[in-house]
Amino acid sequence: MKRRTAEPYKIKSVEPLKMLSYDERKDSLKKAGYNTFLINSREVYIDLLTDSGTTAMSDQQWGAIMVGDEAYAGSESWQHLEKAVKDIYGYQYVIPTHQGRGAENLLSQMKIKDGDYVPGNMYFTTTRAHQELNGGTFVDVIIDEGHDSLLDHPFKGNVDLAKLQNLINDVGPEKIPYVCVAVTVNLAGGQPVSMNNLRDVYNLCHRHDIDVMYDATRCVENAFFIKEREEGYGDIAIKDILKEMLSYSDGCTMSGKKDCLVNIGGFLAMNDEDLYTRARELVVLYEGMPSYGGMSGRDMEAMALGIYESIDDKYISHRINQVRYLGNQLIEAGIPVVRPIGGHAVYLDAKKFLPHLKQEELPSQSLAAAIYLDSGVRSMERGFVSGGRNKITGKNNKPKLELVRLTIPRRVYTNDHMNVVADSIMALYEKRDQIAGLKMTYEPPTLRFFNARFKPLSSCGELMTITTSSATT
Ligand code: F0G
Repeated sequence: MKRRTAEPYKIKSVEPLKMLSYDERKDSLKKAGYNTFLINSREVYIDLLTDSGTTAMSDQQWGAIMVGDEAYAGSESWQHLEKAVKDIYGYQYVIPTHQGRGAENLLSQMKIKDGDYVPGNMYFTTTRAHQELNGGTFVDVIIDEGHDSLLDHPFKGNVDLAKLQNLINDVGPEKIPYVCVAVTVNLAGGQPVSMNNLRDVYNLCHRHDIDVMYDATRCVENAFFIKEREEGYGDIAIKDILKEMLSYSDGCTMSGKKDCLVNIGGFLAMNDEDLYTRARELVVLYEGMPSYGGMSGRDMEAMALGIYESIDDKYISHRINQVRYLGNQLIEAGIPVVRPIGGHAVYLDAKKFLPHLKQEELPSQSLAAAIYLDSGVRSMERGFVSGGRNKITGKNNKPKLELVRLTIPRRVYTNDHMNVVADSIMALYEKRDQIAGLKMTYEPPTLRFFNARFKPLSSCGELMTITTSSATT
């Protein structure tokens, strides 16, 4: 008999949850313009909008908050954080930032010139926005499998070396300031990159004198998949796999709000001393002194400890398996989800879930809204709306994948919460033909998904033509 395992922690402090009635949820959805980003969190029952900054900290981290050194310069808490990053990630120089996009801003400003190209294994919204703001053009070099939601492949985040080589041949290496490799790839479904691929990308780039900068936001999750799926790594500790992964890069941007197990924080790390010297100048303008970079001393203490907690093999195994626990229930029920289940989230394939809707009728946006209406579970659109517009032509980017992300915060929910989510999605799948499309009524000029507003396209003006909830009232 296979023995079951439990959470590698027990719960010391609880936050009560409240579920609104069906009619209250309907009102709240209308008020939010059918955009789950605009729903008040107190009107949400289970919040799977993001795994970013939503982590439950450990008692050790909360304890460390009390000893944060809040000095403007030379904070001891910064020394703790800097030591943790150097120790676990292995880079020589570290610049603190308030969160990941702060690091992306510094890196893009320092390295990208007008007319440059920045290849990456699929884009992330803020990362690409900073690259474009600085005159760069993002080029997607992920393997084709990364765009095929139902295809099972162990490392769907891999870089296609031929695509990368072709770009280098076409535009010349001097037009490529660095290659941005995300480990794991958020928008592909939290899919990992293999160690072999990371090594090959590094070698290819270095033959052309091109730097490799990782988006290390979920790098511990990536290390877990390497341990599980790549030959030769099964018996190696997560922390050693992580070190090797990061050794195939020249630096990274990091959103501490994910794998560093904190609610706020980030950093830029590198091995190049000149780049570090420039970053020390620039960080003062945008984030604060190089000894805090937008974080308080207590944030830095919590993050230093979070970095050590994150590489515990038992923690990361439970984390990934909880995501799978939800995903596998949906797969068994025949619901179209991105395969294999990734590290931080289960992604519903909204094109396949709602085949009666055209991509312009925003299937992901309307599915996310319908899930909230059904059970108060909040998810996120990752499709047509998030894809934005081409900066030159102004046309919609029309991404191949049209997804709804159910993102699991770290150490926050139990598997019973996952059951409630699974039940809601299964009930909606039964009556999927009753879910109407949406039309954008307000479109912000940048990162439109955050603040856009919508209205249902149905003749009755409602999102669901049957207005009773299956699961919950
Ligand atoms: N890179 C990746 C892969 C991310 O997922 C995020 C954030 C960032 C960079 C930016 O980091 O938020 O600290 O500035 N992702 C969040 C999400 C917002 O919900 O996926 P940040």
